[in-house]
Amino acid sequence: ARPHLVLGIETSCDDTAVAVVNSKGCILSEAVVKQDSIHARYGGVVPGLARQAHEQVIDELIERVLCEAFTCSQNEVWARSANGLDAVAVTMGPGLEICLRVGFRAAQRLLGRLKEASSAPGPVFISTHHLESHCLVPRLFGGYRPSFPFLVLLVSGGHCMLLLARDLGNFEVLGGTLDDSVGEAFDKIARLLGLDVGGGGGPALERLAREGNPNAFDFPIPLRKRPDCNFSFAGLKTAVRVAIERELERYGSRDETATLLQVNRQAAADIAASFQRVALEHLFEKTRRALLWCRTHEPDVQSLLVSGGVAANSVLRARFQQLASEIGWRLHDEEVERTAAWSTDPGAPACDLKQAIIFPPLRYCTDNGVMVAWAGVERLLRLGDAAGEPDIDQIEVV
Ligand code: KG4
Ligand code: ZN
Repeated sequence: ARPHLVLGIETSCDDTAVAVVNSKGCILSEAVVKQDSIHARYGGVVPGLARQAHEQVIDELIERVLCEAFTCSQNEVWARSANGLDAVAVTMGPGLEICLRVGFRAAQRLLGRLKEASSAPGPVFISTHHLESHCLVPRLFGGYRPSFPFLVLLVSGGHCMLLLARDLGNFEVLGGTLDDSVGEAFDKIARLLGLDVGGGGGPALERLAREGNPNAFDFPIPLRKRPDCNFSFAGLKTAVRVAIERELERYGSRDETATLLQVNRQAAADIAASFQRVALEHLFEKTRRALLWCRTHEPDVQSLLVSGGVAANSVLRARFQQLASEIGWRLHDEEVERTAAWSTDPGAPACDLKQAIIFPPLRYCTDNGVMVAWAGVERLLRLGDAAGEPDIDQIEVV
């Protein structure tokens, strides 16, 4: 039988993303439009602006991705899609409601259009859960496929959690954040230091931290004494803000608007490096705790997936390399990267990935359409009855 073909749509936050993936794990086409530059000066995602930006590009992205997947022109694309596409998968939450609605309506318009274009029954609608999509995406890289159950550390601007992925639709939250997410903390501190956050606060802070001494400031590691897997960054953020203000005073500048980066670059770099060390050590300690807990209570857990924008951080990767060595597991990052190309050969066998810490390729760690399409594939294959008519009441708000 020919592989199933699924289109995925993601609009839950500030990325408009669409992709077509088949059930053999081939990515036929994908596109992402990021909104970082729109929100950069507001200190966070502005929902109204995000919705507008999604609305401006979504239909065009869907059309473009479909033309590429079916290698055809705009004239033929609707008839071809009506016959070739098995499902349209849409992120229904959690996320910003007005943004989720844009993706949902685009899917409805698409399904309507396909019905007009052909007498074929056309694709079914599948609603997907944003966190499940993040967790399932490493299973797309057919060369190495982590099998259930596995542990996930999901760390981005919007999420900071440890999940036990038991099965499709069966995810247990082992730990979450009591206040802010780690990505948010990186973004906030980057702005406080005076960094240009147009390309993301995290990467800018990581670059500056390379010039600094990570032990210059002794910020306390959060929730060390608590015997659980939760996170907290509010206290650390405050400690860092106070340190920045103190340094600014110390190197006194008459200009009230001057940033520490302008006044004393070395002090700013020392704070960046110290904050980064403590924030990442916190992630590391709680993840290690969850993994060791799994070893006794959930021995079938044989892999750890690290995903979300913060997974791009090279200091975090190095720290997890140490953990891998400690427990005799292997760290896969470039290797998985290579299998992304490899997976375009559908004849190759999928092999189970055991005793591994996996960092998926970065563009599949951050919000993307491929993860939604792939979650749709898994749902289509396993839960045929989950597919159905679009129902806007399913939208789930953060
Ligand atoms: O997954 P993502 O693209 O979007 C959200 O769902 O938020 O993650 C973006 C977040 C931002 O907060 C950004 O500062 C952080 O990931 N980030 C990093 C790095 N690259 C991105 N944080 C630390 N170090 C990095 N290299
Ligand atoms: Zn996300």
